[in-house]
Amino acid sequence: MAQLEAAGDLELRNLRSEDEVRAAYPLEVAGYSAEEGASLESMLYRFRQAPHLFLGAFDQLGAIVGYIMSTQVAAPLVTHASMGTHDPDGSTVCIHSVCVSPRWQGKGVASRLLQAYTSSMREYNSRLDSAGSGRRLDRLAMLSRENLLPLYERAGYTTLGRSSQPVGTESWYDCVLDLHTDPGQTAETLV
Ligand SMILES: CC(C)(COP(=O)(O)OP(=O)(O)OC[C@H]1O[C@@H](n2cnc3c(N)ncnc32)[C@H](O)[C@@H]1OP(=O)(O)O)[C@@H](O)C(=O)NCCC(=O)NCCS
Repeated sequence: MAQLEAAGDLELRNLRSEDEVRAAYPLEVAGYSAEEGASLESMLYRFRQAPHLFLGAFDQLGAIVGYIMSTQVAAPLVTHASMGTHDPDGSTVCIHSVCVSPRWQGKGVASRLLQAYTSSMREYNSRLDSAGSGRRLDRLAMLSRENLLPLYERAGYTTLGRSSQPVGTESWYDCVLDLHTDPGQTAETLV
Protein backbone atom coordinates (compact mmCIF):
# COMPACT_ATOMS: atom_id res chain seq x y z
CA MET A 1 0.00 0.00 0.00
CA ALA A 2 2.90 2.36 0.65
CA GLN A 3 3.46 3.33 -2.98
CA LEU A 4 -0.27 4.07 -3.35
CA GLU A 5 0.11 6.79 -0.74
CA ALA A 6 2.99 8.82 -2.15
CA ALA A 7 2.17 12.49 -2.76
CA GLY A 8 3.81 12.23 -6.19
CA ASP A 9 1.12 9.77 -7.32
CA LEU A 10 -1.70 12.20 -6.69
CA GLU A 11 -3.41 14.04 -9.51
CA LEU A 12 -3.49 17.79 -8.96
CA ARG A 13 -6.24 19.63 -10.80
CA ASN A 14 -9.05 22.12 -10.27
CA LEU A 15 -12.27 20.74 -8.85
CA ARG A 16 -14.81 20.03 -11.58
CA SER A 17 -18.17 19.70 -9.84
CA GLU A 18 -20.15 20.62 -6.76
CA ASP A 19 -20.04 16.94 -5.80
CA GLU A 20 -16.26 17.24 -5.53
CA VAL A 21 -16.75 20.27 -3.24
CA ARG A 22 -19.13 18.20 -1.10
CA ALA A 23 -16.47 15.48 -0.93
CA ALA A 24 -13.93 18.07 0.25
CA TYR A 25 -16.15 19.41 3.03
CA PRO A 26 -15.38 16.62 5.58
CA LEU A 27 -11.68 17.47 5.20
CA GLU A 28 -12.46 21.10 6.08
CA VAL A 29 -14.38 19.94 9.16
CA ALA A 30 -11.51 17.68 10.21
CA GLY A 31 -8.84 20.34 9.63
CA TYR A 32 -10.39 23.46 11.12
CA SER A 33 -12.37 24.33 14.22
CA ALA A 34 -15.98 25.47 13.82
CA GLU A 35 -14.87 29.13 14.16
CA GLU A 36 -12.07 28.78 11.61
CA GLY A 37 -13.53 26.53 8.96
CA ALA A 38 -15.81 27.27 6.03
CA SER A 39 -19.39 26.05 5.84
CA LEU A 40 -20.40 23.85 2.93
CA GLU A 41 -22.42 26.78 1.56
CA SER A 42 -19.33 29.00 1.67
CA MET A 43 -17.24 26.37 -0.10
CA LEU A 44 -19.89 25.97 -2.81
CA TYR A 45 -20.06 29.76 -3.23
CA ARG A 46 -16.29 29.95 -3.68
CA PHE A 47 -16.32 27.10 -6.18
CA ARG A 48 -19.15 28.68 -8.21
CA GLN A 49 -17.50 32.10 -8.19
CA ALA A 50 -13.88 31.11 -8.66
CA PRO A 51 -13.38 27.50 -9.79
CA HIS A 52 -9.92 28.46 -11.12
CA LEU A 53 -8.87 29.08 -7.48
CA PHE A 54 -9.99 25.70 -6.08
CA LEU A 55 -7.17 23.19 -6.54
CA GLY A 56 -7.52 19.61 -5.37
CA ALA A 57 -5.24 16.60 -4.91
CA PHE A 58 -6.92 13.34 -5.93
CA ASP A 59 -5.81 9.78 -5.22
CA GLN A 60 -5.75 6.97 -7.75
CA LEU A 61 -9.41 6.18 -7.07
CA GLY A 62 -10.39 9.80 -7.76
CA ALA A 63 -11.05 10.68 -4.11
CA ILE A 64 -10.04 14.16 -2.98
CA VAL A 65 -7.34 14.06 -0.29
CA GLY A 66 -6.37 17.74 -0.09
CA TYR A 67 -7.11 21.15 -1.52
CA ILE A 68 -6.40 24.86 -1.57
CA MET A 69 -9.42 27.16 -1.77
CA SER A 70 -9.39 30.93 -2.35
CA THR A 71 -11.22 34.02 -3.53
CA GLN A 72 -9.97 37.23 -5.16
CA VAL A 73 -10.03 40.44 -3.13
CA ALA A 74 -8.98 44.03 -3.72
CA ALA A 75 -7.14 44.36 -0.38
CA PRO A 76 -3.46 43.31 -0.33
CA LEU A 77 -3.92 40.99 2.67
CA VAL A 78 -6.55 38.58 3.94
CA THR A 79 -9.54 40.49 5.25
CA HIS A 80 -12.57 39.31 7.12
CA ALA A 81 -14.81 40.48 4.25
CA SER A 82 -12.89 38.34 1.79
CA MET A 83 -13.96 35.20 3.63
CA GLY A 84 -17.47 35.64 2.30
CA THR A 85 -17.00 37.34 -1.04
CA HIS A 86 -15.21 36.98 -4.35
CA ASP A 87 -14.27 40.14 -6.25
CA PRO A 88 -13.34 39.21 -9.85
CA ASP A 89 -11.54 42.57 -10.14
CA GLY A 90 -9.40 41.92 -7.06
CA SER A 91 -5.73 41.24 -7.75
CA THR A 92 -5.00 39.43 -4.46
CA VAL A 93 -5.72 35.72 -4.23
CA CYS A 94 -6.86 35.29 -0.66
CA ILE A 95 -6.23 31.67 0.40
CA HIS A 96 -8.82 30.49 2.89
CA SER A 97 -7.87 26.84 3.25
CA VAL A 98 -4.83 24.66 2.81
CA CYS A 99 -6.16 21.32 3.92
CA VAL A 100 -5.07 17.69 3.72
CA SER A 101 -6.98 14.64 4.86
CA PRO A 102 -5.60 13.37 8.22
CA ARG A 103 -4.75 10.05 6.57
CA TRP A 104 -2.54 11.81 4.02
CA GLN A 105 -0.79 14.31 6.29
CA GLY A 106 2.99 14.24 6.63
CA LYS A 107 3.53 12.91 3.09
CA GLY A 108 4.29 16.20 1.32
CA VAL A 109 0.79 16.76 -0.07
CA ALA A 110 0.45 20.35 1.17
CA SER A 111 3.93 21.21 -0.11
CA ARG A 112 3.07 19.84 -3.53
CA LEU A 113 -0.28 21.64 -3.60
CA LEU A 114 1.36 24.94 -2.65
CA GLN A 115 3.95 24.69 -5.42
CA ALA A 116 1.35 23.70 -8.00
CA TYR A 117 -0.95 26.49 -6.86
CA THR A 118 1.68 29.16 -7.40
CA SER A 119 2.48 27.74 -10.82
CA SER A 120 -1.16 27.66 -11.82
CA MET A 121 -1.64 31.31 -10.81
CA ARG A 122 1.38 32.33 -12.87
CA GLU A 123 0.02 30.34 -15.82
CA TYR A 124 -3.35 32.04 -15.33
CA ASN A 125 -1.61 35.43 -15.65
CA SER A 126 0.22 34.27 -18.78
CA ARG A 127 -3.06 33.23 -20.37
CA LEU A 128 -4.55 36.64 -19.58
CA ASP A 129 -1.49 38.31 -21.09
CA SER A 130 -1.94 36.28 -24.29
CA ALA A 131 -5.64 37.08 -24.42
CA GLY A 132 -4.90 40.78 -23.82
CA SER A 133 -7.72 41.17 -21.28
CA GLY A 134 -8.80 40.17 -17.78
CA ARG A 135 -7.61 40.96 -14.24
CA ARG A 136 -4.03 39.90 -13.59
CA LEU A 137 -3.27 38.47 -10.18
CA ASP A 138 -0.56 40.27 -8.21
CA ARG A 139 -0.11 38.17 -5.10
CA LEU A 140 -1.21 35.24 -2.99
CA ALA A 141 -2.11 36.07 0.62
CA MET A 142 -3.02 33.82 3.52
CA LEU A 143 -3.21 33.60 7.28
CA SER A 144 -0.91 30.98 8.78
CA ARG A 145 -0.76 29.32 12.11
CA GLU A 146 2.56 30.04 13.85
CA ASN A 147 3.78 26.42 13.72
CA LEU A 148 3.19 26.25 9.95
CA LEU A 149 5.22 29.32 8.96
CA PRO A 150 8.21 27.16 7.87
CA LEU A 151 5.91 25.21 5.50
CA TYR A 152 4.80 28.40 3.76
CA GLU A 153 8.20 30.06 3.80
CA ARG A 154 9.68 27.01 2.09
CA ALA A 155 6.93 27.34 -0.52
CA GLY A 156 8.04 30.93 -1.25
CA TYR A 157 5.80 32.96 1.07
CA THR A 158 7.07 35.87 3.16
CA THR A 159 5.80 36.30 6.72
CA LEU A 160 4.75 39.90 7.36
CA GLY A 161 3.81 39.60 11.03
CA ARG A 162 0.83 38.92 13.20
CA SER A 163 -2.50 39.47 11.49
CA SER A 164 -5.07 41.93 12.81
CA GLN A 165 -7.88 39.68 11.54
CA PRO A 166 -9.59 37.64 14.26
CA VAL A 167 -10.14 33.97 13.37
CA GLY A 168 -11.10 31.68 16.24
CA THR A 169 -8.88 31.88 19.32
CA GLU A 170 -5.44 31.30 17.75
CA SER A 171 -2.85 33.91 16.65
CA TRP A 172 -2.48 34.03 12.88
CA TYR A 173 0.26 35.48 10.71
CA ASP A 174 -0.02 37.31 7.40
CA CYS A 175 1.92 35.57 4.63
CA VAL A 176 2.22 36.76 1.04
CA LEU A 177 3.79 35.58 -2.19
CA ASP A 178 4.38 38.08 -5.01
CA LEU A 179 3.39 36.52 -8.33
CA HIS A 180 5.59 38.90 -10.31
CA THR A 181 8.88 37.67 -8.84
CA ASP A 182 10.99 34.99 -10.49
CA PRO A 183 9.29 31.62 -9.89
CA GLY A 184 12.65 29.89 -9.40
CA GLN A 185 13.24 26.26 -10.08
CA THR A 186 10.92 24.59 -7.60
CA ALA A 187 7.64 25.47 -9.29
CA GLU A 188 5.64 22.49 -10.43
CA THR A 189 3.47 22.58 -13.49
CA LEU A 190 -0.11 21.42 -13.13
CA VAL A 191 -1.04 18.18 -14.80
C1 LIG B 1 -1.19 21.90 7.68
C2 LIG B 1 -1.44 20.82 6.67
C3 LIG B 1 -2.11 21.40 5.44
C4 LIG B 1 -0.08 20.20 6.28
O1 LIG B 1 -0.33 19.23 5.26
P1 LIG B 1 0.74 18.06 4.97
O2 LIG B 1 0.41 17.46 3.66
O3 LIG B 1 0.79 17.14 6.13
O4 LIG B 1 2.09 18.88 4.90
P2 LIG B 1 3.46 18.36 4.26
O5 LIG B 1 3.57 16.87 4.42
O6 LIG B 1 3.58 18.90 2.89
O7 LIG B 1 4.49 19.04 5.26
C5 LIG B 1 5.54 19.82 4.82
C6 LIG B 1 6.18 20.51 6.02
O8 LIG B 1 5.19 21.26 6.72
C7 LIG B 1 5.51 21.27 8.10
N1 LIG B 1 4.34 20.79 8.83
C8 LIG B 1 3.31 20.07 8.36
N2 LIG B 1 2.41 19.89 9.32
C9 LIG B 1 2.88 20.46 10.42
C10 LIG B 1 2.40 20.61 11.74
N3 LIG B 1 1.21 20.12 12.13
N4 LIG B 1 3.17 21.29 12.62
C11 LIG B 1 4.36 21.80 12.25
N5 LIG B 1 4.86 21.70 11.01
C12 LIG B 1 4.13 21.04 10.12
C13 LIG B 1 6.69 20.40 8.30
O9 LIG B 1 7.80 21.28 8.34
C14 LIG B 1 6.76 19.57 7.06
O10 LIG B 1 8.07 19.31 6.72
P3 LIG B 1 8.74 17.88 7.14
O11 LIG B 1 7.92 16.85 6.43
O12 LIG B 1 10.12 18.03 6.61
O13 LIG B 1 8.63 17.80 8.61
C15 LIG B 1 -2.31 19.69 7.27
O14 LIG B 1 -1.76 19.28 8.51
C16 LIG B 1 -3.76 20.11 7.53
O15 LIG B 1 -4.61 19.97 6.65
N6 LIG B 1 -4.04 20.64 8.74
C17 LIG B 1 -5.40 21.08 9.08
C18 LIG B 1 -5.77 22.39 8.36
C19 LIG B 1 -4.75 23.49 8.61
O16 LIG B 1 -4.36 23.77 9.74
N7 LIG B 1 -4.32 24.14 7.52
C20 LIG B 1 -3.33 25.19 7.55
C21 LIG B 1 -3.89 26.47 8.04
S1 LIG B 1 -2.60 27.71 8.10
